[in-house]
Amino acid sequence: MEAISIGLLGLGTVGSGVVKIIENHQDKLMHQVGCPIKVKKILVKDLNKERAVKIDNEKLTTDPDEILYDPEIDVIIEVMGGMKETKNYMIKALRNRKHIVTANKDLMAVHGSELLTIASENECDLFYEASVAGGIPILRSLVDGLASDRITKMMGIVNGTTNFILTKMSKHGSAYEEVLKEAQVLGYAEADPTSDVEGLDAARKMTILATLGFSMKIELDDVKVEGITRITEEDLRYGRQLGYTMKLIGIAHREGEKVDVSVQPTLLADTHPLASVQDEFNAVYVYGEAVGETMFYGPGAGSLPTATAVVSDLVGVMKNMRLGVTGKNSVTPQYKKQLKEPSE
Ligand code: NAP
Ligand code: HSE
Repeated sequence: MEAISIGLLGLGTVGSGVVKIIENHQDKLMHQVGCPIKVKKILVKDLNKERAVKIDNEKLTTDPDEILYDPEIDVIIEVMGGMKETKNYMIKALRNRKHIVTANKDLMAVHGSELLTIASENECDLFYEASVAGGIPILRSLVDGLASDRITKMMGIVNGTTNFILTKMSKHGSAYEEVLKEAQVLGYAEADPTSDVEGLDAARKMTILATLGFSMKIELDDVKVEGITRITEEDLRYGRQLGYTMKLIGIAHREGEKVDVSVQPTLLADTHPLASVQDEFNAVYVYGEAVGETMFYGPGAGSLPTATAVVSDLVGVMKNMRLGVTGKNSVTPQYKKQLKEPSE
C-alpha cells in the first residue's frame, strides 16, 4: 500500500501536534484512509530551532517551493499563520492541484471566499475546521449536522487566550500581563497576541461562523469588536460580588436577511451556561429554528486539540481523494453559488 505524502507549512504549536497525531495514531488513520500517511517536507523559518517533536532534519526546509511544487505531495497542511505570503502559497498550491488543510482564521475570515473558489476551480479540497474553536468540530456541525435547519443565532466564547486570562484574573487574582505570558508559553496566544486581547481573533472566528451558519457573505469589517484590554481586576471583583462572571462573548444574530455580528466583554450571571466555561476552553451556542438550542464545548486552543481538527480534516481530504470527489465538498459550492449578501 503506497503511503500518501503530505507537506507541512509550519512546525510550531499546531504543526508539532499534527506530527505527533500522525505518528501516534497511525493505526487509526490507516484504518480510516486505507494507507499510511507520510510527512515528507516541512517549511520552517529557522532550521536550527529546538522542536517540540523529534524530526529528521532533512525533512525541514526554508524553501516553500520544495513543498508547493513537489509532485509527490498531494496535501498541504498550512499551520504557519500569516496573511499575504501565506495566501500566495495557498493559491500556488491549489493551482498546482494540491489539497489544503488550514488552521488560519485570519486568512479564511477575509479571503475565504476567494480561496474556496480557487480550490473548487482546481477540484481541490480546502478544509479549515481548526480555524474556529480549536478542537470543537463546530464548522462540520454547522455545515453537515445542522444542514437541514435555519440557524438564527450563535453565541459563544471563541478565543481561548482571553478566556484563560479572564479565568485566572477572576479566580486567582492573577495580573493581566503575567497570565498573558502564561497563555503565550502554553501556545494558546497568536504570534502577535494583540489580535487575541483586542477581540480581532474572536471577530474573525465569528465571521467564519456567521458565514457558514447563515449561508451569507459576512464581512469582517462589519463586525463590532471590543477586546478585554480595558477590563480591570476591580471590574471582575465587583461582578463576582453581584454573582456575575466576565467573558469575551461573540454574538451573531440573524433576523430575516439582516445580520448583526459583534464581539465584546460581557457580564454573565453565574448561572448562565457560558459562565462556567473556564481557562482555554471554548463553547458555542447555536439556535436553529427547528432543532432549538444546541451547545458545543471543548478546548479552544493548544497543540493537540487544534491538531486533532487539522488531522481530521486531512482524513476528510483523503477519503474524498479515494472517492474521486475532491473540490465538491459541501462547504465549497456554498461560497461559489449560494452565498447571499445580508441586507443593511
Ligand atoms: P507558531 O507556534 O508560531 O508556529 C508557526 C510555525 O510556522 C513555526 O514553525 C514557524 O517557523 C513557521 N513559520 C512562520 N512564518 C513562516 C515563514 N514566513 N516561513 C517559513 N515558516 C514560517 O504558530 P501556531 O500557534 O502553531 O499557529 C499556527 C496557525 O494555526 C496560525 O494561523 C494560528 O492562528 C492557527 N491556530 C493556532 C492555534 C493554537 O492554539 N496555537 C489554534 C487554532 C489555530 P519556526 O518554528 O522556524 O519559527
Ligand atoms: N489564539 C487563539 C485562541 C488560538 O486563543 O483562541 C485558537 O484559535
